[in-house]
Amino acid sequence: MATGETILRVKGLKTHIFLEDGVVRAVDGADLEIRRGETLAVVGESGCGKSMMARSILRLVDRPAQIVDGEIWVRRPPGKGGNSDGAAEMVDLVRADRRVVREVRGKRIAMVFQEPMTSLSPMHTIGDQIAEVILLHEQVTKQAARRRTIELLGRVGIPAPKVRVDSYPFQLSGGMLQRAMIAMALSCNPELLIADEPTTALDVTTQAQILQLLRTLQKEYGMAVMLITHDLGVAAQMADQVAVMYLGVVVERGDIVSTFRSPLHPYTQALLRSVPKLGLSAGARLAPVRGMVPHPYQRPSGCPFHTRCDSFMAGKCDLTVPELLRQDDGREVRCLLYDGTAGAGAVAPGAEGRNA
Ligand SMILES: Nc1ncnc2c1ncn2[C@@H]1O[C@H](COP(=O)(O)OP(=O)(O)O)[C@@H](O)[C@H]1O
Ligand SMILES: [Mg+2]
Repeated sequence: MATGETILRVKGLKTHIFLEDGVVRAVDGADLEIRRGETLAVVGESGCGKSMMARSILRLVDRPAQIVDGEIWVRRPPGKGGNSDGAAEMVDLVRADRRVVREVRGKRIAMVFQEPMTSLSPMHTIGDQIAEVILLHEQVTKQAARRRTIELLGRVGIPAPKVRVDSYPFQLSGGMLQRAMIAMALSCNPELLIADEPTTALDVTTQAQILQLLRTLQKEYGMAVMLITHDLGVAAQMADQVAVMYLGVVVERGDIVSTFRSPLHPYTQALLRSVPKLGLSAGARLAPVRGMVPHPYQRPSGCPFHTRCDSFMAGKCDLTVPELLRQDDGREVRCLLYDGTAGAGAVAPGAEGRNA
């Protein structure tokens, strides 16, 4: 399933937020890759930088936040030259000019947010708002855009789309609004849909319906999906690949079946121990991840997870920032347990100085 070409590659992305009291390193060296048609789940506790990373990919971060380093490679917008070889087809959004960024946003990559009202205006009908997106990206008449809008609303399961097209957001339920958001995202046939906690604000039944809708549309449109969720059950249900984020860093990535069956990183292991049914036999004890995500200003040295890690190696994990290491099965993990030096004798000098 996951053998298609790469359509997004994020390398060493850093997005920092410059506040009066200090700098929040919201994304601090994140690496990701998505291939055509696949679903990547991005998981991790709240505050780990998932949303900031997603917004960075679309260059939707504003002051005081700023992308300070890294690369975001995506396929060029259609019809924009560079079709001769594979490399020339990619463009680095961090360095691309605004026009290219705008074209990628919508034509290549679209996004739905947890809270529909962050993207919908209460002042305009949903139909006008979706048609506006179509008109922005394509040379079609207003009537054609409206017809497309009605068709899209039908596609995402909104009943009586010919009537609902003229509804204002406040006239729709949360689930219907999220469907309208998805219709808007699909309006320009993106090859990647980034969905940031798209169902977190919905009740369980509606959540299941929206996830089913995403799956159906993904098949129909051949889209890749980046599904951001703190819910490992949703990730397991939906994704082919998973990236686990902690404090702005991807600490583990790989195919979801092996990763959830035998997680490599102690953080992934801890996350999986905290949810029922996943990765554990029935009757096993549930345990929340020990401790809390540190305050953004108090980012630990070395491996950012070392303050909560059951496998903490003093003098090592608190001093050395682990690299993303590729394993034999292609999975990757950012943990010093896997760098071949773990164990006795590997302790770096000066270990006594650690302040827990
Ligand atoms: N506008 C903002 N101002 C200050 N800090 C922010 C802002 N947005 C996000 N952050 C901080 O950036 C970090 C990452 O946040 P976020 O990307 O929203 O995490 P997630 O989506 O994984 O819950 C957190 O420490 C959060 O407090
Ligand atoms: Mg978030």
